[in-house]
Amino acid sequence: MVPLKRRKVVSSGAGSPGGPGDTGSTGSTGGPGGGEERTRFPQVVLFLLERKMGSSRRAFLSQLGRKKGFQVEELLSERVTHVICENNCGDEVRTWLRLQGGGRTSAQLLDVSWFTDSMRAGRPVDILDGHKLQEQQIDDAEGGVFSVPSYACLRRTTLENHNPVLTDALSLLAENAELSDEDGRGVAFRRAAAVLKALPEPVTGAAQLRGLPCLGGHSLRVITDILENGASREVEFTKQSERFKALKVLTGIFGVGAKTAERWIRDGIHNLHQLQESGQALNRAQQAGLDHYDDLQQPVTRAEADAIGEVVEEAVVSVLPGAQITLIGGFRRGKLTGHDVDFLITHPEEGREVGLMPKVVTWLESQGFLLYQKTTRNSYLEAKAGPARPPSNMDRFERCFSIFKLADAEKRGRKRAGNAPEDTCCPAAHSRVADEGPEPVKPAGGPGRWRAVRVDLVVSPVSQFAFALLGWTGSKLFERELRRWAGRERAMSLSSHALYDSKQSRYLRATSEEEIFSHLGLEYIPPSERNA
Ligand code: UTP
Ligand code: MN
Repeated sequence: MVPLKRRKVVSSGAGSPGGPGDTGSTGSTGGPGGGEERTRFPQVVLFLLERKMGSSRRAFLSQLGRKKGFQVEELLSERVTHVICENNCGDEVRTWLRLQGGGRTSAQLLDVSWFTDSMRAGRPVDILDGHKLQEQQIDDAEGGVFSVPSYACLRRTTLENHNPVLTDALSLLAENAELSDEDGRGVAFRRAAAVLKALPEPVTGAAQLRGLPCLGGHSLRVITDILENGASREVEFTKQSERFKALKVLTGIFGVGAKTAERWIRDGIHNLHQLQESGQALNRAQQAGLDHYDDLQQPVTRAEADAIGEVVEEAVVSVLPGAQITLIGGFRRGKLTGHDVDFLITHPEEGREVGLMPKVVTWLESQGFLLYQKTTRNSYLEAKAGPARPPSNMDRFERCFSIFKLADAEKRGRKRAGNAPEDTCCPAAHSRVADEGPEPVKPAGGPGRWRAVRVDLVVSPVSQFAFALLGWTGSKLFERELRRWAGRERAMSLSSHALYDSKQSRYLRATSEEEIFSHLGLEYIPPSERNA
């Protein structure tokens, strides 16, 4: 009876706007099995609680309800009149609602029996005592204490993580899967880790996890191992494995992906020394990656990101006055360190941004700021990406992958302090870089000290700016989940360029991230809470 549908559907969301197609139309043709899904009962708005019901059963029942002409919301909102629950008691549901921030709902809290009776009758039946949620749960031990929605874009994930041991373990397995060309498994581990990141407290026993989404058997085994034995054998084994260690070291070189690393390992290359000895041909990016390996392994601090931001801003406004730069990626989400620094550049007048990147790069190069750069051209064309071909996940912006040469903090500070007052607020570019020109060998110390930092620059036309900002702020999993939500729950296709609505066969415009969330029927989540 329960369909074998694998689709995961959201379990909740607090105070979000209702989905599309929910205006109270009274037209009624939605008979059993009919393709039409019209609202027959405008006064009745259902929300099915995924907790303990499970996502596939919830999806099945939601679809059934809609077929019968009921309005079924994906998200909990003020419009909801009936919350349908299965195997939950009243107290539990009220607690859960409170935790979701959706606190005081005036909706009826009903057992699924009311729903099935109504389906049978083809209309909302009168609410009998037996339909109301029982106040006491008989088998209290069965329920987990946490509940989170299954889509990461419905959750607020701050940088505060109460379960770092568990999430580190799952992230390591995710990384191992990704490096081994097993992306599906990688995503499964990432999703599981993200669910744990969203929990308000440390997990102390596996029983607490019952009912949580995205925790498959494999992830649960790893978690249980750690909770019971202090460590997971699989994680420890992976960490120690020569293959994993080699993949980590080699893909740690900028410009080297999993495929290349795999090939090198087959040729017996497991570390940097062996790579250098092997005489392998390296492309320009890989050579630069190898040259600056140690620097690029060091996390970039926020202060360094800001110093680079000043340089990029100076470059951008001197080649195109009025152009604007925005810090994106992890730093925009409030992270204190990153593996690189990402900037989005635009100009408020559409079209003025064309040709901007090469000029910025030339400026930066002329000032000695770039140790390496590769620029790709903008290849996005809406007409081509359109309905027949929904926008792919690949970004097609004009983009520059670079390695910056950043003078160390002391030198930056000294130069700034020594400069004229007007230079303090807008220091000359050369005050922040070694002035000595290209330096193939890094000095150990002294006045010429600098470090290499990975910097990504992206140029977007202002009409796509909000989409680019949303797409480049991350986290990667948050982005993936937004796209999954758009496709599965809204029949829309989201990219860093645009949002396409397949039902209306048109693009939906937006000038802010808030508008995009609203198009998607999602509550707005600020960058600091996108750390899924
Ligand atoms: P990063 O890989 O820089 O990650 O991508 P991050 O979140 O800033 O974390 P760090 O740098 O490791 O600290 C930033 C965002 O840009 C998007 C990713 O989806 C991510 O959300 N991105 C990155 C793209 O859209 N396309 C790309 O080719 C690369
Ligand atoms: Mn980044």
